[in-house]
Amino acid sequence: MAEIIIVPTPADAAALVADHIAGQVERDPELVLGVATGSSPLPLYAALRERREAGADFSRVTAFALDEYVGLPPEHPQSYHAVIHREVTVPLGLDPARVHVPDGAVEGLETAGERYEALIEAAGGVDIQIVGIGASGHIGFNEPGSGFLSRTRVKTLVRQTRIDNARFFDSVDEVPLHCVTQGLGTIMRARHIVMLAFGSGKADIVARAFEGPVTSSVPASVLQGHPHVTAVLDEEAASSLRFADYYREAFENKPSWQGL
Ligand code: GLP
Repeated sequence: MAEIIIVPTPADAAALVADHIAGQVERDPELVLGVATGSSPLPLYAALRERREAGADFSRVTAFALDEYVGLPPEHPQSYHAVIHREVTVPLGLDPARVHVPDGAVEGLETAGERYEALIEAAGGVDIQIVGIGASGHIGFNEPGSGFLSRTRVKTLVRQTRIDNARFFDSVDEVPLHCVTQGLGTIMRARHIVMLAFGSGKADIVARAFEGPVTSSVPASVLQGHPHVTAVLDEEAASSLRFADYYREAFENKPSWQGL
């Protein structure tokens, strides 16, 4: 079962997770960090940037993104190559040579998954994986029906995801139909998974993911079986959880030596 931490605001969530990541990087400067796109992790990246300005050094961290659109050139401003570069690599001072994003080029697509898996393997796996959650229950771009043991591969986006992501494009038709995403099995191999979800729009899917049945119809529900998951939610995203009072009590009384 995930540890669910409910905080007043996204900034509080970001501060909590940024302190943890900065502390882990201080212990292990070569930490492998899994990074996500979407708006949910942005406050975290801003908080990590502040830690950097205060002296934290992320230059030896290796990063793996969860996913990429198929067919957008890396220089397209909405390709996840470009987004990760802009939102993560530059502000956190990562070494671009250590930042990896799946290859969404049409040419060679049939091997994109295995090439990415090999890179993750060679880096020794992901230590801390940041994830958001889509309205469909996806993590990365693992849409409903994704296999719990799946590895990095090409997926077709559901219509709702394309509608949700159309805000970054001129129209929904410009949102690519296909993506390359780490599989649920890939994500589940990360040693620690941290989910960030904010706002009332996430309340229903968060409750289904963490308190509903474990089912590939709600891909994020796979996380219920991971030994170390931390979901950091604001009050609104937590508002449909049945056991919210229990999560609050557990967190308030958590021994400090346990960390995040
Ligand atoms: C995209 C990404 C996901 C992300 C989701 C939610 O589809 N591929 O990794 O979790 O959006 O985005 P947001 O955080 O903006 O709600």
